Amino acid sequence: MRILSIESSCDETAAAVIEDGRKIISSVVATQVEEHKLYGGVVPEIASRRHCEAINGVIKETLLQADMKLDELDAIAVTAAPGLIGALLVGVNFAKGLSLASGLPLIPVHHLRSHIAANYLAHKELKPPFLCLVVSGGHSHIVEVKDYTVMNIIGKTRDDAAGEAFDKAARTMGMPYPGGIHLDKAAESGDPLSYKFPKPRVSGSEYDFSFSGLKTAVINLIHNAEQRGESLSVNDLSASFRKAVVDSLTGNFLKAADDLGYKKLVLAGGVSANSLLRKRMDEECKKSGRECYYPPLSLCGDNGAMVGAQAYYEYLAGHTAGMGLNAAATMSIEKDFA
Ligand code: KG4
Ligand code: ZN
Repeated sequence: MRILSIESSCDETAAAVIEDGRKIISSVVATQVEEHKLYGGVVPEIASRRHCEAINGVIKETLLQADMKLDELDAIAVTAAPGLIGALLVGVNFAKGLSLASGLPLIPVHHLRSHIAANYLAHKELKPPFLCLVVSGGHSHIVEVKDYTVMNIIGKTRDDAAGEAFDKAARTMGMPYPGGIHLDKAAESGDPLSYKFPKPRVSGSEYDFSFSGLKTAVINLIHNAEQRGESLSVNDLSASFRKAVVDSLTGNFLKAADDLGYKKLVLAGGVSANSLLRKRMDEECKKSGRECYYPPLSLCGDNGAMVGAQAYYEYLAGHTAGMGLNAAATMSIEKDFA
């Protein structure tokens, strides 16, 4: 089954043709990041406009690279939630138009489910059930993936997402948006023990996260140093902050895996590109005889390929939509569209 999939939930306009949920025939990503950099973050109105301008060309290029026409495809898939509403609507309406014109079924896809599915493209042997740490710019979840379309949230952030915390810390250190990757690079040559950060604790649920305290701590540390005219080592600060975030993510994730008896652990979302997070999970899983999976760097960020991968399994589960499909800014990963 060949699916044309479309992603426009944030600041990448992307499309792909995916075969049977596992094979990338073609994949095109047009990023808007250079423009949002000027403002230090994504400007929703600009994002929507750029999606409108780019989507036609991105889809044409995707079909060209696949050397396929619409009538050689079996379905159209699109990210329909969660994300920036104006941005999502561009992809959803384009997909509805394509589905109406071609008569192909329309498959709505949850953005975080598709981040998880990025792993299916790279690891052909990976199948649910497994425990997944989904860490992106907007979400930090520990999810039981009981089946391809059956998810159960075990823990989540009470405030900021891990990606958001990385981006805010990086911005305060003067790095460009999105700062997560720059902070990660700077951290590679820093000493992670040079600055102390509080250990985030959440009362009520041992698997929930909280990153706002860490974020405030790093911002205060930088501002206080500035006021006193002291200089800080960006590399050391990045390394210490990165360690604090990764300690919290892996601590809760590994505890949940132990308590629930999962031997197969998966990372997903933009923050799964973090080099310390990947390294730490590799080490911990090797020590405890667990399997650890994460996407290749090319599939960690937003892309159309992961949407097509998840869409295949949504289709098999009967989760298609009609012309009444609408986009939603928020939606639980546990919920189905149909
Ligand atoms: O999943 P994603 O591409 O978009 C959302 O769905 O939110 O995630 C983007 C987030 C940003 O916060 C970005 O800074 C972060 O992923 N990120 C990283 C790294 N690469 C991307 N955070 C830490 N280390 C990285 N290497
Ligand atoms: Zn994403």
